[in-house]
Amino acid sequence: MKKTWWMPIAIVAIGLGLVGLSMDESSVQEATIQKTVFHEDSLPLDYWDKPQAMGKVHAGLENNMRPEACAQCHQEQFNAWRDSKHAMAYSPGLVGQFPNMGHAAGNDCLVCHAPLAEQLYRDAGDLDATLSTLLENPEGFSRAADLDSTKSQLPLRHAGVTCAVCHVRQGQRFGPPRRGSDVVGHLQGDAHGGFVATKDFEKSQLCAACHQFPQAYAINGKPLENTLFEWKKSRFSREGVQCQSCHMPDRKHAFKGIHDVDMVRSGLEFKLKKQGKLAILSMTSVHIGHAFPTYVTPKIWVKAEALDAQGKVLQHWQWVIVREVAYDDGWKEIQDTRLMPDESRVFVADDLNEHVKSVHFYVDVVPDAFYKDVYRSLLSDDLQPKARLLIAKALSDADKNDYRLYENEIKI
Ligand code: HEC
Ligand code: HEC
Ligand code: HEC
Ligand code: HEC
Ligand code: HEC
Repeated sequence: MKKTWWMPIAIVAIGLGLVGLSMDESSVQEATIQKTVFHEDSLPLDYWDKPQAMGKVHAGLENNMRPEACAQCHQEQFNAWRDSKHAMAYSPGLVGQFPNMGHAAGNDCLVCHAPLAEQLYRDAGDLDATLSTLLENPEGFSRAADLDSTKSQLPLRHAGVTCAVCHVRQGQRFGPPRRGSDVVGHLQGDAHGGFVATKDFEKSQLCAACHQFPQAYAINGKPLENTLFEWKKSRFSREGVQCQSCHMPDRKHAFKGIHDVDMVRSGLEFKLKKQGKLAILSMTSVHIGHAFPTYVTPKIWVKAEALDAQGKVLQHWQWVIVREVAYDDGWKEIQDTRLMPDESRVFVADDLNEHVKSVHFYVDVVPDAFYKDVYRSLLSDDLQPKARLLIAKALSDADKNDYRLYENEIKI
């Protein structure tokens, strides 16, 4: 894969304006965010097209786009968001790759990781300065929401997929209708000139801007990110269960996913049984609205060990759940063994040796398997010294994310 692995992703990034444009074509509205009164129940068509947060000038605090500023009045959302991956999207593993690519190509990555006009690099100097700033501040915001802290003075890009990325355009706030209310359009309020309530915030399509690649970039028929499409094909879309239902229950902003063991357990059902001379583990995807896992980045290892009465391992088995792709003069899919929604898979330990007394099953998750390979490959090449420090940090952080999802044994 080497240095060029990211090039197709950068091309996809340029094409992404299109994803924004195709958002809910049926409800295309003439309305633009410049109008102070907004009556329609849909986001402006260009919501994700070169988004810019600043605009109408409110009082000082309400004109501050930092997440710490929103936290002064929206503490609950901030307290959940600060532990989410969205808060860490301007990461060492991302930015450490930019010196090799240049700031313009870096901006093509920021369209998902920090997309506001206020977050993009203006020139090579911005990129150069960010390397030291990020090394000193791997977390790009103040956890305590202290507006006077040094972190709160960092450029907004350090806050990654911050509040304003999803909620603010030209000073105007956009959000779901008030709890328990169906009223949409521009609502008066006590701060930042009220807000525009739209049901688009309750729909999966809102997440597509960054979690779905266009079909034109498919590898073996499927784009590298195909989450919205997988969801549309599943029973969850027919039942009206949106991304938000599972990832923002009760509107909470934690956005948990493959990095959270409880979240992953909540989506799967395991059954272990003995059938004659076989030990069988079955795994069913019961509450995951897309492939498990949806991305090419995680790897899930299923392992079995057959032990004798003394606990000595006599036989072992291993399976992998992954969508594996490789870059070699174009992307190729090597294998796709992921579990689709409602799919069951059995893992069978067969031909058991006559001395076997028990069979142990383990399921281990490596959430960042793909990136770990990318980081190792980058570290074996020429890297700008600060970029090397950032990538080394990304690799050691990624190693800490591995965990055991399931473990059980059955007597034979
Ligand atoms: C000075 C306090 C204050 C600050 C600062 C503030 N807000 Fe608000 N916000 C409010 C109030 C008050 C409401 C109105 C609640 C209502 O009328 O139901 C509101 C409403 C909202 C809503 C709509 C909620 C809904 O029910 O859909 C969103 C979204 C929002 N704010 C986002 C933000 C973001 C993002 C920031 C930071 C960039 C921010 N706010 C900064 C006070 C504030
Ligand atoms: C502006 C782009 C953007 C939007 C919009 C967006 N996301 Fe994300 N999301 C990201 C990025 C980038 C990451 C990865 C952050 C990182 O780790 O660097 C991410 C990570 C996640 C994760 C964490 C997965 C894990 O690795 O554990 C979940 C879950 C998630 N997003 C859900 C959602 C949902 C649900 C929505 C819609 C309500 C949404 N996102 C909207 C960009 C976005
Ligand atoms: C279409 C939106 C999108 C674009 C464009 C994009 N990413 Fe991401 N990126 C994501 C999402 C979503 C995740 C989290 C899920 C995953 O692990 O794939 C992520 C995760 C990552 C991660 C691992 C988590 C972290 O932040 O350390 C790295 C590194 C990364 N991206 C680098 C890049 C680079 C480099 C580019 C540009 C070549 C890029 N991304 C472009 C959406 C995007
Ligand atoms: C990835 C996009 C995304 C980010 C980032 C994000 N939000 Fe939200 N926010 C949403 C969505 C989607 C909803 C509506 C969820 C629903 O209706 O199920 C929402 C709802 C809200 C509401 C209404 C909550 C309620 O209980 O009625 C407020 C207020 C809010 N967000 C503020 C914030 C603040 C403050 C931040 C930053 C700390 C933030 N949001 C970050 C997408 C986002
Ligand atoms: C029925 C519940 C459910 C729905 C609906 C759902 N998810 Fe998930 N999602 C999960 C669970 C559980 C996980 C953890 C297991 C996994 O990683 O697949 C997860 C994981 C993720 C991840 C982590 C990365 C990965 O490779 O798995 C992302 C990103 C994500 N979801 C985004 C979305 C988006 C975007 C939507 C809407 C198009 C969505 N999810 C709809 C339950 C759901």
